[in-house]
Amino acid sequence: MIKTSCQLLDGRAAATAIEKKILSDIEEFKKNSGRPPTLSVVLVGEHAPSQIYVSMKQKAAERVGLGFQLHRLQSNIKEIALTSLIGEINRDPKIDGLIVQLPLPPHLDPRTALNTIHPDKDIDGFHPLNIGRLITSRALLEPCTPKGIMALLAHYGIECIHKHAVVVGRSAVVGRPLSVMLLRASATVTICHRHTVDLGSYTKLADILVVAVGKPHLITGNMVKPGGVVVDVGISRLDNGTIVGDVDFETVSRVASHLSPVPGGVGPMTIAMLLSNTVRAAQHLAHVKILPEWSP
Ligand code: GUN
Repeated sequence: MIKTSCQLLDGRAAATAIEKKILSDIEEFKKNSGRPPTLSVVLVGEHAPSQIYVSMKQKAAERVGLGFQLHRLQSNIKEIALTSLIGEINRDPKIDGLIVQLPLPPHLDPRTALNTIHPDKDIDGFHPLNIGRLITSRALLEPCTPKGIMALLAHYGIECIHKHAVVVGRSAVVGRPLSVMLLRASATVTICHRHTVDLGSYTKLADILVVAVGKPHLITGNMVKPGGVVVDVGISRLDNGTIVGDVDFETVSRVASHLSPVPGGVGPMTIAMLLSNTVRAAQHLAHVKILPEWSP
């Protein structure tokens, strides 16, 4: 194995730099509108990780001075009650952004809920219209984790043009939208997934390797191109309580030129993009003034 000096892609530092700009945009918005940009989160049921994610979102919103509204709903809520609450938030002129935290309890169809969110308030960028805009050009609101990964690469001056980017994982939340963003940045993109035969034969060719699967230690040093950039999106808790990513930090850090740690890599960037998307939605809606009716 070749020993290189590996630079950490520090998501906390990059997010702090991005938050400075967000803070000044929020101040400007407040001066003009007399209120802060405001995010509403709908949380259904008691799913434990969702409680943690939502409280992280709330803390971040409060830290930068965004307005934050949380709707906690019982896990047995009927679909009609959920869609009618989403409709109310869509029409509320004091709310700029709306997130329905996933997963929903099994009796609720996440697509129905996501499709009901007004596309101009869709902070997650999961609405089919926003996904379509992402693929055809650039959407006002794009999914936060892939957007955060692109911002992390940019923060460290890592260009995508002429590079071979390999994305492991094809989820709608990370792998698929990220592949589109990498392609837009002129990388040559390969997407690997659970049915890929001989994963290492692809990952070894990656100038930029992004792993978003949720399997601890899936990627080891012998699967990484010497001098490659590695971004670890996975987050899992081991039986001993340790939080780890999909990348075996010990062996990969001996081979890669850059590596994002878990925690402290992509996670803070996702939160920074959530704040940034809320401000973007608020600025857009303030210019639009009256939101067109939305019927899914
Ligand atoms: N559950 C886990 N990650 C996310 C996310 O990014 N957005 C929403 N709405 N739910 C999630």
